[in-house]
Amino acid sequence: MTERLRVAVIGAGRWSRTAHLPGFQRSPLCDLAVVCDLDEDLARHRAAEFGASETETDAERVLDRNDIDVVDIVTRGDHQDLVFATLEAGKHCLVEKPVCHDYRDVWRAHELARSKGLKTKVGLTFRYAPAVMYMFDLIREGFVGQPYVFNGYEQNSQWLDPDNPMDKRIHKVKPVGEAPWGTDSDREEITVSSLEGYGAPTIDIGLKCVGSNLTQVVGILANMVPYRRRTNLDTERERINIDDADMFMAEAANGALFSMQSSYVTVGNYPGIEARIFGSEGAIQTRLVDEHGVIQTIKTATKDAVEFVQREIPPHYFPPGYRPDDAWGTAFYGNLVHDFCREILDGGERNQGDFAQSARVQEVINAVALSHRRRAWVRLPLGDDDMAPIPTSPF
Ligand SMILES: NC(=O)c1ccc[n+]([C@@H]2O[C@H](COP(=O)([O-])OP(=O)(O)OC[C@H]3O[C@@H](n4cnc5c(N)ncnc54)[C@H](O)[C@@H]3O)[C@@H](O)[C@H]2O)c1
Repeated sequence: MTERLRVAVIGAGRWSRTAHLPGFQRSPLCDLAVVCDLDEDLARHRAAEFGASETETDAERVLDRNDIDVVDIVTRGDHQDLVFATLEAGKHCLVEKPVCHDYRDVWRAHELARSKGLKTKVGLTFRYAPAVMYMFDLIREGFVGQPYVFNGYEQNSQWLDPDNPMDKRIHKVKPVGEAPWGTDSDREEITVSSLEGYGAPTIDIGLKCVGSNLTQVVGILANMVPYRRRTNLDTERERINIDDADMFMAEAANGALFSMQSSYVTVGNYPGIEARIFGSEGAIQTRLVDEHGVIQTIKTATKDAVEFVQREIPPHYFPPGYRPDDAWGTAFYGNLVHDFCREILDGGERNQGDFAQSARVQEVINAVALSHRRRAWVRLPLGDDDMAPIPTSPF
């Protein structure tokens, strides 16, 4: 292994530009070697913007190269095939969530990575927000004591407007032959969406806050805005049965209570994440909402001083090259990318936010969807009989 990792980024779209590419450009632990996109002009443009030496349009050719250590998958739609191909090719793998829609496939990917001595990381962006990293350290130091209650929220209004296309990809021709999603208007057939979007990284934060697996969940998925434009090429709205708002509650193995609300049709700015943990000694509230130029805050209280006070986030929680005017995606992802490079270069077992953690999160998502369809509590871990094909969205 070289002292600086050679990285190839597959997918040069919006999120890649805001989050992934600046992270790799700024980390002193890697060189951005290749930007790959089906759109050759876009790949070239991004490579020039972020100082990558080469471009590619075919992901397979990237995976065939033996001078690439890390492959980063930032495409839209299903990531599963590219993830397995990346690991088979012997590359460390960063991928946007979800790795796979079925948690058992995520475990398979995790096992494959381990068998090849590879590290993995998932775009569980918000655990790398400086405020959340600080919260995790306070919890580790005992600030909260025994965890009693976690509340997680994702609330933003990115799809409140029904004319904002449900499928975020910019299509030049109308997609054909893709599995349809949201076309069956039965309550039970609702397509999982918000819960797998920013619900996933919020569940991830919750599991860290309570420090325990969940043992049972009960939840509901809802469709608040039933008629929407499907793609950028559609002029009419159509019925799309999709989870744009959901709630669940759960019990953790250590007795803590856990609740989550995730929705992208609730008024408020992006990303709209809040995490609150209350314990025997103290409580912490972290808010990641881009408001009036502030992207994150952390407030704490103790049992002897119950009024919450805002804390300054110490500078060492910020990523290399951080600038105060960084967009939240750039600021949070800078930590994710740099941490992944360090985990690979350091060797050893350390690998936070990896496929194993993503599999735990995905199992909770699968269980909540099942609870909605059964109208009942669902026990965790799930059994093989619990899993049926899950309608999921491609974005
Ligand atoms: N973690 C987060 O907070 C967060 C935030 C936003 C988006 N995302 C995720 O990031 C991913 C990308 O989102 P986006 O908004 O950048 O999408 P986008 O459509 O803007 O960009 C995706 C790019 O990938 C390219 N692409 C697709 N398949 C490819 C292939 N096989 N080989 C090479 N290039 C390919 C497309 O041409 C496109 O340019 C999605 O999975 C999305 O859910 C995550």
